[in-house]
Amino acid sequence: MISPKKYAKSAKRLPKGYKTINEFFNCVYNDHQMIWMGQNTNHLHDENDITFAMMDSIKNKDYCKYPPPEGFPELKGLILQDLGLNDGNNDILITAGGTESLYLCMNDILEPTDNVITCDPGYLIIDNFARRFGDHVKSVPIYSSENQYKLTPELVKQNMDKKTRLISLVDPLNPLGSCYTQEEIKEFADMAIDNDIYLLHDITYRDFAREHHLAAKYAPDHTVTVFSFSKIYGMAGLRIGAMISTPDVLNSVRNIVINDLGTNVVAQKGAMAALRSKNKWIDRIKDTTRTNQSIIKEAVDSVEGAFIPVYPSNANMLAIDIHETGVAPVDVAEFLLKRKIFAREGNYTSKLFGHRYLRVSFSIPREFVEKFAVHFQEAIKYLTR
Ligand SMILES: Cc1ncc(COP(=O)(O)O)c(C=O)c1O
Repeated sequence: MISPKKYAKSAKRLPKGYKTINEFFNCVYNDHQMIWMGQNTNHLHDENDITFAMMDSIKNKDYCKYPPPEGFPELKGLILQDLGLNDGNNDILITAGGTESLYLCMNDILEPTDNVITCDPGYLIIDNFARRFGDHVKSVPIYSSENQYKLTPELVKQNMDKKTRLISLVDPLNPLGSCYTQEEIKEFADMAIDNDIYLLHDITYRDFAREHHLAAKYAPDHTVTVFSFSKIYGMAGLRIGAMISTPDVLNSVRNIVINDLGTNVVAQKGAMAALRSKNKWIDRIKDTTRTNQSIIKEAVDSVEGAFIPVYPSNANMLAIDIHETGVAPVDVAEFLLKRKIFAREGNYTSKLFGHRYLRVSFSIPREFVEKFAVHFQEAIKYLTR
């Protein structure tokens, strides 16, 4: 059996009254009144081309057959086109979500003596996957305005050594919503080229950002890009994403794939429709998300001692720092859950700073965000009594 020590999990807390995390999720998932602000998912799509494509696929019983193992070529082409990486130098695999891409990336690139640079706060499953294949992870503390709440090129330089093989850039960052400038991405790209190491560019929240730059454009031979349909495309439950890199990297990944028989057909049909129809829905989703964000900001500003470290967030989530209020994020999360609002305390995305913040996502209908705004203020008032 595998040693659990090496593969330390994120500090997922079991909410009161549940025996397992799965039982908790099953319960909140099946509660149709629950307002979903805990997973950065997107609930703003109406019935649209995506739904129709998937319903057609089901009616045609496409699902009786296995799809092409690496994904439909049309879908691969549409993703590369969406990213402007369709110059013939990039290869792509369709995966069962960004999560599978992250795992394959670590499995393929890391040797047992390598180390990986990530950041805290950050998306902790990346650290977990890196630990499985490399020697250790250097999780750099970034929760400070001095470095704009992100892993800067300077911080990476300070933490790199000869055994550093990969730098993980989640951009925009879950949980804070910080994002990289073109200059920063160029600097990371130069660093990767000069040291012959890899950038893992996780662009799961890219389309929510005001401005976004792909590392693959500046260091194509040293970047693995992780793509997801779970967020702006609103398809989290369909489990679909992609991994993009050089033909060399992907040829090597082809030897270690797990989903040897391909990714869900219905999800792929939905994903193709999502990319083809993107112009029809993206502006409305971004506009609603930004308005929602300002509603949260107003509520937070009215609470003494609370603040939003990165505002505006470039993602569909943000962190609310409540440390100075004296209230623990976990208590606020419990308070909200009782009022049917699912949000996440910081421990889920940080080992060092989780006691300071609550993370909320807001690509949900405006009236739900308004409800959150009221209950958040009440929570702090009630819990500081
Ligand atoms: C940074 C980041 N990468 C990847 C994922 C997982 O993506 P997927 O649902 O495509 O597996 C998430 C999910 O929240 C995320 O925050």
